[in-house]
Amino acid sequence: MKVLLIGSGGREHALAWKIAQSPKLTRLYAAPGNPGIAEEATLVALDTDNHSDVVAFCLKEAIDFVVVGPEGPLVAGLADVLRAAGIAVFGPSAAAAQLEGSKGFTKDLCARYAIPTGAYGRFTDAETAKAYVRAEGAPIVIKADGLAAGKGVTVAMELDEALAAIDDCFDGAFGAAGAEVVVEAYLDGEEASFFCLSDGKTALALASAQDHKRVGDGDTGPNTGGMGAYSPAPVMTPEMTERTMKEIIEPTMRGMAESGHAFSGVFFAGLMITAKGPELIEYNVRFGDPECQVLMMRMKSDLLPLLHAAATGTLAGMDAEWRDETALTVVMASKGYPGAYDKNTPIAALPDASAGTKVFHAGTAMKDGGLVATGGRVLNVTAIGESASAAKALAYAAVDGVSWDNGFYRHDIGWRAVAREKA
Ligand code: AMP
Ligand code: GLY
Repeated sequence: MKVLLIGSGGREHALAWKIAQSPKLTRLYAAPGNPGIAEEATLVALDTDNHSDVVAFCLKEAIDFVVVGPEGPLVAGLADVLRAAGIAVFGPSAAAAQLEGSKGFTKDLCARYAIPTGAYGRFTDAETAKAYVRAEGAPIVIKADGLAAGKGVTVAMELDEALAAIDDCFDGAFGAAGAEVVVEAYLDGEEASFFCLSDGKTALALASAQDHKRVGDGDTGPNTGGMGAYSPAPVMTPEMTERTMKEIIEPTMRGMAESGHAFSGVFFAGLMITAKGPELIEYNVRFGDPECQVLMMRMKSDLLPLLHAAATGTLAGMDAEWRDETALTVVMASKGYPGAYDKNTPIAALPDASAGTKVFHAGTAMKDGGLVATGGRVLNVTAIGESASAAKALAYAAVDGVSWDNGFYRHDIGWRAVAREKA
């Protein structure tokens, strides 16, 4: 199978690394890719916003299957254009990608299908939103409706903060994404990410993970795209997984199919495990970054046929096997991230390759023959071990092998799982 992978982050490096191990693969291309992905794939300088260029490349190279990594191209309809050209593609249609692209869309679906989630209201003007917030009281959560690169959510512990967040949204802090605001009840519990493939009719549960969204140790400082992750998340017991499938994933699939927009691709359910059980915080319609990196470390099965089955309606009867160990990844980011940071800072050394560890590249590039950091999140130092503590020790030992003056990282990735092991 000739495959084109779309994307250039750590998630796509992990997907490329795993797809490249498939006996079914004949050739792997990636657009635009990065220096890590280049170890596994032929990089193609395609503008992935230009859908007709992507289709033309696929037809010219006789690409059998396209795997779309990030949400942007999905929400923009790349999967639709490829399917219309007769090319199999992993990732939902633009209509189904609204599950991630519009928080209001997802909340309405939850309400129609009795999917557990926080009570909410949708608003297009500040005064009505504020009246609702005053009536509900704090803590309360304010969300820009659209895609805001993970920055459109304010968990307000005080009323004033909630009112200010509403003004920010309507004053354009998140551009068009904030033209509508969703106000949501605060959910108390432990968060977990849950991943599940869907071909539109059949669901195949994958695995769970836990992300670390705040930039600083002890979950302090601003939110980021994710500073580290581990899998599995111990809070996702078999009972919670079963309830999530039954109470959240299955009704979502039914709802999407009944609306004429059957969902194919991967559900990334952001869950809060509350006293009542799993509740949906949000859906993403692609693998998590850096959650994908730890999932790929643990996956024993061949990934490529699973993704292809999700894309072609043939998931029934398929299974995914996982290593029982814990995988953990530490994100190394440019100093200043998630704010402004210097670009093109040199990465002088990476750790020697060793069994059970893998450094995935995110925002890196080659410049004058040397590796440089070009993004906010730059390297994902990943390890697998017998326990969360063992994986953590291995990952941080590999972090010590990175020589990059402008990099920083959290020192406590996996702290919840490690604390559970010590308890
Ligand atoms: P999101 O961008 O929707 O993932 O939200 C970012 C973060 O805000 C989540 O990972 C949660 O930590 C938090 N959050 C979002 N919605 C809620 C909620 N209803 N209750 C409590 N925390 C929330
Ligand atoms: N790590 C969170 C995300 O990929 O959205």
